[in-house]
Amino acid sequence: MKTPQERVRIFDTTLRDGEQSPGFTMSAAQKIAFAHALADLGVDVIEAGFPNSSPADFGAVQTIAREVRGASIAGLARCHAGDIEACARALSEAAAPRIHVFISTSPLHREHKLGMSRQQVVEHAIMGVELARSHVDDVEFSAEDAFRTEREFLVEVFEAAIAAGARTVNVPDTVGYATPEEIRDLFRYLRANVKGADGVVFSAHCHNDLGLAVANSLAAIEGGARQVECTINGIGERAGNAALEELVMAMKVRGGWYGVDTGIDTPKLLDTSRLLSRITGIQVQRNKAIVGANAFAHESGIHQHGMLKHRGTYEIMHPQDVGWAESQLVLGRHSGRAAVADRLRALGHVLDDARLDAVIADAKALTQTQHVVSDLDLLRLLDGDPSGGGWRITAMSLIDEGQHTRARIELSDPGDLHVAQEAQGDGPIAALFAALARATGVDFELESYEVHSMGIGRDARGEANLSARIGGEALAGQGTSRDVLEASAIAWLAVANQVLRSHASQRIAAFA
Ligand code: KIV
Ligand code: ZN
Repeated sequence: MKTPQERVRIFDTTLRDGEQSPGFTMSAAQKIAFAHALADLGVDVIEAGFPNSSPADFGAVQTIAREVRGASIAGLARCHAGDIEACARALSEAAAPRIHVFISTSPLHREHKLGMSRQQVVEHAIMGVELARSHVDDVEFSAEDAFRTEREFLVEVFEAAIAAGARTVNVPDTVGYATPEEIRDLFRYLRANVKGADGVVFSAHCHNDLGLAVANSLAAIEGGARQVECTINGIGERAGNAALEELVMAMKVRGGWYGVDTGIDTPKLLDTSRLLSRITGIQVQRNKAIVGANAFAHESGIHQHGMLKHRGTYEIMHPQDVGWAESQLVLGRHSGRAAVADRLRALGHVLDDARLDAVIADAKALTQTQHVVSDLDLLRLLDGDPSGGGWRITAMSLIDEGQHTRARIELSDPGDLHVAQEAQGDGPIAALFAALARATGVDFELESYEVHSMGIGRDARGEANLSARIGGEALAGQGTSRDVLEASAIAWLAVANQVLRSHASQRIAAFA
């Protein structure tokens, strides 16, 4: 057991290493919005971009430097005068600017990428750090591909960079080749052998090519790193960088082992991850640690039974600590009696054994054609009403009008009320959701929307899952159908029905 908790700085590079990878490009406005979210999250350094790489990147870094407070703002630069001057200009209005200069040091990169001798690399590193220091006090130096660099040369380069004025020295595992044991050992070696090591912060920057980026960053911390470079959702070059949310929670949950902590406001992790998904249009996988839909969801009967007795049986952290409202006992093919009874009780239905058995049998039958049994499904099974007491779709059609799509939707409710509405949209989904919003009078912004197929060939069915946050409450809807558009409309309507039910119950409460 180690004491006391030492602070590890979180250097977020979502907007630089993350943004430069395929599929994650962001507009300047998106980068600025995301930088504000990172500052709110409590990261220590935001690497906002590589100013000399394009006028757009320059502009985004400049606006972030001007607007965002609460974190240092870093810009990346090669050890070239042009890069460093551009970086300094872009950061000129930052309250706490950092110039991050780098040069490759490994034999492979020296020979094939730079065509430089060791001596030339050292000279460039010194020039880069000194020029950066002539503009700002806070200079970070990175030895690109450090992990594959000869150790004694790495010591030489870092000593030169420190003597030239670098305050942080970064040891990237650029190609994700390290193992935890090796990288821990490398950090110990550098801290023991680099002259001036005590006066600087050692930093780790691990890529995930072997799926070891988080483990390697934690091992680097054990070896003495006090800054880790990471990204939200682990995005970054190729297989990505170390995922910030995983690293931070490993330090928090296993603080007793690592003896370190961060300044991250961890309940904001989920919202920050979702903001990135919304901006980039790329969702994290369900089983992603911390922020994936399954991270606090339990479907198997044995686990659900354990969770109902004591949540510590199958959870090592509180969902609220990372921003989830609560753990979820998902009803599916593997669920047990206890979980179905518990869910029904939460919905206000306490059933005798025979009735409960019947609902469980019907719910299991449903899982032949869909993954999850929702609250709405349970209510439907209870009273035979397919909408759970809300609107249901009686007809829908879509017309392609060239530039736009027109959707027509007809709904009815259990009281036999009918409505029909039409709306236009950029595509079929936008048109459908707009028609549904008109028909129900409910509108909301989607937080996530996923469609996937269940089964193959003639038996395939589409399953749509969407979620929305309305007045601070997270609502989810699910729909299945042979037609993905219909599945999407059913999922949308499931959320709208929940909104309408909660409005109705508020009205009843107000009268009571
Ligand atoms: O992976 C890497 O080596 C980098 C450096 C520029 C820090 O991203
Ligand atoms: Zn990198």
